[in-house]
Amino acid sequence: MGDAAYHKNRPDTLPAPSGCPVDHAFSPFSDDYQADPYAELEKRRNNSPIFYAEDLGCLVLTRMEDVEEVFKDPTIFSSENVQDPVIQICDAAFKVLEAEDFNPIPVMSNCQRPDHTRIRKHTQAGFSGRRMRVLEPYIRQRCETLVSAMLEGDAPAEFVSHVGYPLPGDTIFRLIGFPESDDRMLKEWTGNRLAFMWGKADEDEQVAIAENLLAYWRYCAEFVQMRKDDPADDFTSELLAAHDADPDDLSLQEIGSAVYGLSFAGHEIVTNFLSNSLILLLSDRPQWEKICADPARIENAAQEVLRHSSPQTGWRRVANADTEIAGIKIPAGTHIFLSLASANHDEAAFGDPRAFDIERENASNHISFGRGIHFCLGSRLAILETNIALQTLTREAPSLDLVADQKFTYFPNITLRGPEKLWLTWNA
Ligand code: HEM
Repeated sequence: MGDAAYHKNRPDTLPAPSGCPVDHAFSPFSDDYQADPYAELEKRRNNSPIFYAEDLGCLVLTRMEDVEEVFKDPTIFSSENVQDPVIQICDAAFKVLEAEDFNPIPVMSNCQRPDHTRIRKHTQAGFSGRRMRVLEPYIRQRCETLVSAMLEGDAPAEFVSHVGYPLPGDTIFRLIGFPESDDRMLKEWTGNRLAFMWGKADEDEQVAIAENLLAYWRYCAEFVQMRKDDPADDFTSELLAAHDADPDDLSLQEIGSAVYGLSFAGHEIVTNFLSNSLILLLSDRPQWEKICADPARIENAAQEVLRHSSPQTGWRRVANADTEIAGIKIPAGTHIFLSLASANHDEAAFGDPRAFDIERENASNHISFGRGIHFCLGSRLAILETNIALQTLTREAPSLDLVADQKFTYFPNITLRGPEKLWLTWNA
């Protein structure tokens, strides 16, 4: 695949910078981290807050101030590696992606300046307040339908499959403008990319996922062509209007690539946000009852969920030049793992960080949406969806509760965290 390709394997990672502590045990794939990343990170943050994780081939930053510093310096710290697979993509999967018409390119999270600045101006306009207002009635209606279907069935019910997974997927497809009749097929194509990029998919899985990526890209490219002739009130048509106004400022390939990336950026992460919200709120009945009695509290509660149990626990950068972080000299080419989970629990940024407190005054200072030029484009949408879901659930099912003694499992990966299944019960 060419240099500008969206999916690529990297050359070998660099060893630990000299003088930097090496951690042979730290891994987001370890059983201990899977069970409780916050305990694992707290130990490191207190002992050696910057260390080299052998398993990841990355320098790991655990303090808020260091993570912020890296986010805010895109000249030195490039985001070109954020979508890189954790393990090398096998030849058979690459063969699938070598199809002549498979040519998505980095345009957002893994894109660099000056292209990023030029493209972001357009994609940001596509996430305007007006676009959110156009989308809101759909989210409300879809959420009510999904929640009603769950509550009309027998308790207990599994939340992720009933509401948590479909709601953000359907929302992002409507934002882009895809027709509802294609939802089922689109979900099949887009469902398992997490394993490909940030997990450890085996070779057969990689090939199956690559085939889905190819099918999905072809659909995106055709959809952009179709919308060009038949515009509507959606994100894609908005980008196409910018293309028509100045084709050199935004190409059709860039629009297709933006659409391609968006369905992943805005789906499972919101599923996790919804599930993590329910786990935290229902585990602490008085706080759940407070939001039932006063839905105006939901907004800050959602921010505290993002701080306490971020749906995105890690992200990456690579140093473009020799540099230094907190006195440690870092050679160009060093890959860096930014632990958002750890920064959000940094005692220097938040008092009593392990406590979940919906009234925490500085909850929204969390770093779950990043900082700087790549700050999450969908943050308003993610918050809107979660507010709507919590408003609907507190109104329709104030007796909602977690099924006791369930053990949550998390799909092993370096970026996202939310339960694969979440069993809920309520008084019929
Ligand atoms: C709670 C849910 C979400 C979280 C925690 C989250 C988190 C993040 C983070 C950490 C970044 C990277 C920031 C950086 O590299 O500096 C990011 C970027 C991005 N997010 Fe989100 N995100 C969420 C939901 C969404 C949604 C719903 C969408 C779209 C519908 C979305 C679209 C994007 C895009 C396009 C970027 C890249 C922006 C750029 O590079 O200019 N995200 N997000």
